[in-house]
Amino acid sequence: MEVLEIEGGKSLKGTIRISGAKNSSVALIPASILSDEGAVTLLNVPEIKDTDSLTDILAFIGADVERSTESMVIDSTNVTNKEIPEEFAKKLRASYYFMGAMLGKYKHAELFFPGGCSIGERPINLHLKGFEALGGVVTNIGKKYIVDAKELKGADIYLDIASVGATINIMLAAVKAKGVTRIENAAKEPEIVDVAMLLNSMGAKIEGAGTNLIKITGVDKLHGCSHEIIPDRIEAGTYMIIGAVAGNYLKIDNVIPKHLEALISTLEEMNVELDVGDDYVIVNKPEKYKPVVIKTLPYPGFPTDLQQPFSVLMTQAEGDSKITETIWENRFMHVPHLVNMGANIDVSGMKAFIHGPTKLYGTIVEATDLRAGATMVAAAIIAEGKTTITNINHILRGYENIVEKLSDVGASIKRVEVED
Ligand code: EPU
Repeated sequence: MEVLEIEGGKSLKGTIRISGAKNSSVALIPASILSDEGAVTLLNVPEIKDTDSLTDILAFIGADVERSTESMVIDSTNVTNKEIPEEFAKKLRASYYFMGAMLGKYKHAELFFPGGCSIGERPINLHLKGFEALGGVVTNIGKKYIVDAKELKGADIYLDIASVGATINIMLAAVKAKGVTRIENAAKEPEIVDVAMLLNSMGAKIEGAGTNLIKITGVDKLHGCSHEIIPDRIEAGTYMIIGAVAGNYLKIDNVIPKHLEALISTLEEMNVELDVGDDYVIVNKPEKYKPVVIKTLPYPGFPTDLQQPFSVLMTQAEGDSKITETIWENRFMHVPHLVNMGANIDVSGMKAFIHGPTKLYGTIVEATDLRAGATMVAAAIIAEGKTTITNINHILRGYENIVEKLSDVGASIKRVEVED
């Protein structure tokens, strides 16, 4: 098995360039099959396991994909509407975007329940409710879903929770439906705006993406286009947190600071020195950190995906910090590993109480999920001695060239093959 070995205690200086957003790419790749004529070119596609897995699905359904460094040209001329087998679907959560895209294109989709991080129950009832409102009939056989529609018709859909996945999946299914669809209480994440921009460049008529009311006027046909994916705000945030614990003039480049306002203001509240430019943030480790209280919320609130790495910073604050997680029921799986490294953290339900400052020590820890893995990397960078991180597949699913990016700024980090 492969592990990450990190020698802690190095200060990080230089520039880390942020890749295209994982959570945009994983929706844009399935969205591209909606083109009726012409290829879709995606630029700034991160080279991570999740985009590899989606490329495998594209190839399986017959798309012609040309992939070169950070770009993908997807020609869907020969795509056929096949059932996507379980071994493909379970590799990542976002395989379910093929449900909306297939339904939108063929009015029929067959897909197994998706995989992804075990950070909560992760139901897809709102996606299915949206498909049904558009005229789809959903059948569930074991772990498989079949959605079939005689005709897709625009509808008013209210989401009980502002779900990122449901908002995107409904957009994909509705772009070619007859008439107007309105998604109320839509999610507002930047990735949703990115998907709407791609679809509009393909000829769709979507208004209001980025607000809680999205209006989609169905069109008959979509066509190819070229689209550049936004920078990954969660990758950027992760490296900003790493900069806050170990940075000596660490520049995080190719960032949209507006997407990171909640993190930036919380870092400032903790006393972290930041220089925020138009498309970069420079981070310096301060002498002392103030403790803070955070609550994860949908965008533009503090992102749940950064709560775990942020807890490392809280272990270094002078006093008691608190995290309230409101999105996922099971997002403190990293805590026992941080405690093994020397942190003092109590978890009660969806709250974590972090008592700092504590010194961290290298040991063997596990990446229990993607962001927990990033948390272990951040902790290892400031720990005394060597940390070995197992189950690194989770990290490689979401962080492009993490070893190279961190080595280039002075971290001692390597991938090592060890016996199981
Ligand atoms: N929910 C339902 N029913 C649904 C859909 C969602 O009850 O049909 C609930 C979920 O259980 C959760 C809440 O609604 O409690 C929000 O879920 P959402 O659908 O917004 O999340 P998602 O689309 O499954 C995306 C990201 C996650 C990120 C969340 C929240 C992708 C592929 N994943 O998940 O990213 O945490 O939005 O911002 O875009 C990550 O990158 O590490 C990650 C987990």
